[in-house]
Amino acid sequence: MTDMTRTQVGVVGAGPSGLLLSQLLHLQGIETVVLERRSRDYVLGRIRAGVLEQGMVEMLKRAQVADRLSREALIHEGIELAFAGRRHRIDLKGLTGGSVVTVYGQTEVTRDLVAAREALGGQLVYEANDVAAHDFDSDKPRLTYRVDSGEHELRCDFIAGCDGFHGVTRQSLPRDALRAYERVYPFGWLGLLSETPPVSDELIYNNHERGFALCSMRSRHRSRYYIQCAADEKAEAWPDARFWDELRARLPADAAEALATGPSIEKSVAPLRSFVAEPMRFGRLFLAGDAAHIVPPTGAKGLNLAASDIHFLSRALIAFYEEGRDDLLDSYSEAALRRVWKAERFSWWMTSLLHRFPDSSPFDARLQLAELDYVVSSRAAATALAENYVGLPYE
Ligand code: FAD
Ligand code: DHB
Repeated sequence: MTDMTRTQVGVVGAGPSGLLLSQLLHLQGIETVVLERRSRDYVLGRIRAGVLEQGMVEMLKRAQVADRLSREALIHEGIELAFAGRRHRIDLKGLTGGSVVTVYGQTEVTRDLVAAREALGGQLVYEANDVAAHDFDSDKPRLTYRVDSGEHELRCDFIAGCDGFHGVTRQSLPRDALRAYERVYPFGWLGLLSETPPVSDELIYNNHERGFALCSMRSRHRSRYYIQCAADEKAEAWPDARFWDELRARLPADAAEALATGPSIEKSVAPLRSFVAEPMRFGRLFLAGDAAHIVPPTGAKGLNLAASDIHFLSRALIAFYEEGRDDLLDSYSEAALRRVWKAERFSWWMTSLLHRFPDSSPFDARLQLAELDYVVSSRAAATALAENYVGLPYE
């Protein structure tokens, strides 16, 4: 027997995009059910991004999930670029007329969102298996899924595909409905989290002949470091001591000396990819976040793009339910994609500027250094980096 329920918006995926959409709609009296393949513990334990744009912070405030963020997050007014043995500061705040970024882990954002959904009685179904989207080209879309051995059907007005790059919603669209654009980079990032004070007050993006390295953080006592590695690298091949040695070798001397090391809490390899699927809507199914696009992590844009998609999608759904308008639903894909493509460009550019490519020649390496030198010595070039890094406007 199939258990049947109804909601207004069926959300697939309890990552940041699905949870944020569910919370924003709930606050406007719009019902949602969120179907998540993983367990609650898995969702709450996942470690990913760490830098939030101002636009995302404003959305979290509107979603009433920013109390802890306001108390605990670190505000960063600049970042550093390091190359040829020297560190150079990009004054984000000065160059953008006052914009900053907020350092607060995706893990914490997810915790705050889950806590808020639970406090408001939001319906989150974990360990939902075999989720499938049906009839989204009609006005009666449905989601089917299994929990344990029970079969369920969720009838809804709209489906939000917030189920990440490997999710099911994008794959359920007819093959000729989507055009995909993709670039896979010939390397990955090996990340390490440790309970150690960050090497510096601000993030350091390092271009080095041994490969890219990033010094980031989660708090004043917790650090997050990344080093460029082979795409098929195994984290197990990197005992902590090997990681710290390699990181030290890629940092300018003063940073290498100041680096505090300690046992890792987590270590993992992430592939680097650029990907966009267009359009982000098919009938009554809307894609958002990683389900529709991926950026390489170098510009810290993945999580922030998930938030800007939800800005456009929540606004469109609220206009539909409150005013009977469907113009914003119709323009959702175009509005979201305009911003997505600019973040794709920026992430590709930051990646190209900072990494060693297997086929790059000594000439290419010198061009990278010349471009970095230009970026840190020209106010116009530094401003272009800064305004993208803090986040382009939502409109
Ligand atoms: P996700 O966070 O992927 O959430 C999708 C959810 O859908 C997941 O909970 C998943 O379990 C669920 N799901 C998947 N399939 C199904 C299904 N069939 N049925 C039901 N549920 C399903 N960005 C940065 O800016 N900086 C970083 O350092 C960074 N590091 C990253 C490291 C890794 C390993 C990855 C994968 C991503 C990283 N990102 C980073 C990107 C950033 O984390 C994502 O852009 C962000 O999580 C997107 O949010 P989302 O909600 O759209 O997707
Ligand atoms: C982090 C990740 C990024 O990709 C980035 O550009 C900055 C920070 C992080 O995980 O802290």
